[in-house]
Amino acid sequence: MIILGIETSCDETSICVLKDGREVLSNIVSSQIDIHKEFGGVVPEIASRHHIKNISYVLDEALDRANITLKDLDVIAVTYGPGLVGALLVGVSFAKSLAYALNIPLIPVHHIQGHIAANYLTDSNLKPPFIALVVSGGHSHIIKVEDYTKFKIIAKTRDDAVGEAFDKVARVLGLGYPGGPKVSKLAKIGQDTYKLPKAKFENLDFSFSGIKTAVLNLANKEKDNLRKADIAKSFENNVCNILVENTIIAMKQTGIKDVALAGGVAANDTLRELLCKKAKENGFNAYIPKLEFCTDNAAMIASAGYYNYLAGNVANDLALNARACINIEEE
Ligand code: KG4
Ligand code: ZN
Repeated sequence: MIILGIETSCDETSICVLKDGREVLSNIVSSQIDIHKEFGGVVPEIASRHHIKNISYVLDEALDRANITLKDLDVIAVTYGPGLVGALLVGVSFAKSLAYALNIPLIPVHHIQGHIAANYLTDSNLKPPFIALVVSGGHSHIIKVEDYTKFKIIAKTRDDAVGEAFDKVARVLGLGYPGGPKVSKLAKIGQDTYKLPKAKFENLDFSFSGIKTAVLNLANKEKDNLRKADIAKSFENNVCNILVENTIIAMKQTGIKDVALAGGVAANDTLRELLCKKAKENGFNAYIPKLEFCTDNAAMIASAGYYNYLAGNVANDLALNARACINIEEE
């Protein structure tokens, strides 16, 4: 089965061709980072306009690289939320038009289901049930993946998402956008010497706004004496420790032995290594997605689309709309 995947939820216009749910024939990602970095973050209206400008070219390239034509497509899968609603609308409208013109099924995909499915593209052995640690610019969730299309949220952030905290710390340190990779690069030459707060709740929820404020206060207090690389390292260690600690507790509580990492922050080396190390120490198996599938891409959307198609989650008419917020448990 050949699925075309379409992702436009934020600042990446991406289209892929996927065979039988796990084999990537092409995965084109057109990033708008250079446009948005001038503004220090994604400007929603500009993102939508660039998706409109780029999407047809991205489709042509995805088909060319996979060496197929539109007639070879069996199904179209598209991210319909959560995300920037104007940006999502471009992908959803494009997908609806194609599905109508080709008379093939259209599958709406939840963006976070896509991030989790990035692991199916990396490891052919991974099957539910497993625990997913989902860490992106908008989400920090521990999710029980009960089946390919059935999810239960075990814990979530009560304020900022972890990617958002990385981006804000980068801004405080004057590193620019996108912050995650820049903080992570600087952390490699730093020492974990700053004591930063760690939020703990009675359940496994997270909170990252306090640590972000602590970094801001230190920057204001120490000014030119601030050891930026040490702050980056202390911040990175702090958030990675809490993410992994809570995930391991969730695994012990549920008795599930497999854990998968997902979302843009899954590209972080320290987090990847720490999750593998702690999983091993506790007799669990850790699944880590290939770097190319961590940040937003259409291949992960097509893979999640494949499993939704098998489950019969097809958009029955062309009334599908983009949605800024959708709970993954609703699906
Ligand atoms: O999943 P994603 O591409 O978009 C959303 O769905 O939000 O995640 C983007 C987030 C950004 O906050 C970015 O700073 C963060 O992922 N990120 C990283 C790294 N690479 C991307 N954070 C920490 N370390 C990285 N290496
Ligand atoms: Zn994402």
